[in-house]
Amino acid sequence: MKFSSKWDNIVSAKNIYGGSFNLFEHTLPQYGIETNFVDIFNEEEVESAINEKTKALYIETLGNPNSDVVDIESIAKIAHKHKIPLVVDNTFATPYLVRPIEYGADIVVHSATKFIGGHGTSIGGVIVDGGKFDWEASGKFDSLTKPNPSYHGISFTQACGAAAFVTKVRAILLRDTGATISPFNAFLFLQGLETLSLRVERHTYNALKVVEYLNNHPQVESVSHPSVSKDPKQQELYKKYFPNGGGSIFTFDIKGDAQKAKDFIDNLELFSLLANVADVKSLVIHPATTTHSQCTKEELLDQGIRPNTIRLSIGCENIDDIIQDLDEAFKAVA
Ligand SMILES: Cc1ncc(COP(=O)(O)O)c(C=O)c1O
Repeated sequence: MKFSSKWDNIVSAKNIYGGSFNLFEHTLPQYGIETNFVDIFNEEEVESAINEKTKALYIETLGNPNSDVVDIESIAKIAHKHKIPLVVDNTFATPYLVRPIEYGADIVVHSATKFIGGHGTSIGGVIVDGGKFDWEASGKFDSLTKPNPSYHGISFTQACGAAAFVTKVRAILLRDTGATISPFNAFLFLQGLETLSLRVERHTYNALKVVEYLNNHPQVESVSHPSVSKDPKQQELYKKYFPNGGGSIFTFDIKGDAQKAKDFIDNLELFSLLANVADVKSLVIHPATTTHSQCTKEELLDQGIRPNTIRLSIGCENIDDIIQDLDEAFKAVA
């Protein structure tokens, strides 16, 4: 963990998507923003990482790739005690299963590339401003509260009230960075959104069946899913935040080495070998040599990724077909 009194900073959970980690760790420092990565399950560590330059607390509803459940409500309390907003990446949970603003989050972000689109056809994202954070009372956000010389000298909080943050995002950041979705991709996301609830219901049903199957399989060492976690706190959080189930992206460790994991993957036929997640079809990948191949051995272990770890993204196919595919791959490498 780093501390600096010169730069503004973000306090972030360390179990986040690798791309977000890279943005925080390597790119944002070039803009004078640093990130203190913390163990989000250690609230003392979270709180002690916040200093007077901290501008936000950042978490994911379900950690990547192991699906750990974060206690949004208690992390929101810590953020608000220090007058900073809680930003939640809710990509893996989806708004169908969890709505973080109801638990105190201030800003929610989604990679729409995943469940919202559902078919891996477009890249895009969503920012949802809860509209409740009091930027003026915080005293830490001059760019929202003071007159903005690049936008007619307005103060966003004075001019836009509850929509201050999201208006600044659209009026300033979108204008300056050009991070906008093409109309055709926006159309594809809206098509996907129409079936979000149906798909997520089926993803969840299938995922829980697969977790049960793997958890009882003699060729499986362990399954990282909150529904079968050996940590009672994880079980409790899963029940609280996911009363209807959830977590169709998770990992398991096959008995054996990296080669065994790769052979297993090569013998799957229904699952597509892809780095994407949350498509309507089932996906598989070997994190240590693909998505996380830039990590050191220690970083891999810190994120719960071993040579024999396999990541699954369970799709919406018929559950019997999914289980049969897994079964045949296990037989082929027995
Ligand atoms: C949890 C999470 N957040 C954000 C992203 C970034 O998404 P995109 O590829 O749409 O930029 C990803 C991508 O894998 C992700 O898994």
